[in-house]
Amino acid sequence: MRTIIGNQMEHLSRTDSTNNYASRQLMTKRLPEGIVYSTSAQEKGRGQVNQHWESEPGKNITMSVVLYPEFVPILSQFLISKAVALAVHDFVSAYVPDAHIKWPNDIYVEKKKIAGTLIENSLRGGVISSSIVGIGLNINQRLFVSDAPNPVSLSLLTDQQFDLDDCMEELCDRLDDWYMQLKTGEIQKINEAYERRLFRMDEWAPYRAGEEEFEGKITGVDEIGRLVIEKRDGTKQQFHLKEVEFMI
Ligand code: BTN
Repeated sequence: MRTIIGNQMEHLSRTDSTNNYASRQLMTKRLPEGIVYSTSAQEKGRGQVNQHWESEPGKNITMSVVLYPEFVPILSQFLISKAVALAVHDFVSAYVPDAHIKWPNDIYVEKKKIAGTLIENSLRGGVISSSIVGIGLNINQRLFVSDAPNPVSLSLLTDQQFDLDDCMEELCDRLDDWYMQLKTGEIQKINEAYERRLFRMDEWAPYRAGEEEFEGKITGVDEIGRLVIEKRDGTKQQFHLKEVEFMI
């Protein structure tokens, strides 16, 4: 039984970005928590750090959920990312093996990216007053034209076609589950599940940080969401998004 996410859904035939649309809606009125905005044609899909998000019209899930996670301390806001990544990972894992969460919250299958998340939190009065959780999940698209690195879809991985409405319903169930875990304080469960599914956790692999290329081993993610990598000399370093690149 769903409690919060997906009890109300609004589907748009087209929009610039579902995150932008949700944000504009939030400015006009108090929205019910968990409302989902989705679109068939996202004309200016936004990815992380000002990247474009490619999605062929009518083929994929492009949606945003409005949440009010006031109970999450600002310094722990990465927990929202973790809960969302776990939900998308659960969804993908129901169809294909070997799905991983690539820090911070991408979903990868066999070194290819199937889903990305753009979470935009608003802080007011010392709390997270609202969070817009945007999810792009590639379902039926078979050809990618942008320079996005290694995109893949559920259809390419399974050679099947999927009903988008059914997929949306399933994804909302998963999101609702993990958001409830967060809301009920199951922090240890979230942290452990996230690290268990983390791409390259405890594995030596090549990374690039600025000019430096090095071998490192991911040992976890700190409370503020920085990736912790151990180097061959035994030192550990924390990285924010874009400070470190996975050499895949
Ligand atoms: C990433 O760069 O990996 C994040 C991609 C997030 C894309 C989704 S699609 C729905 C929502 N609306 C947007 O404009 N972006 C997010």
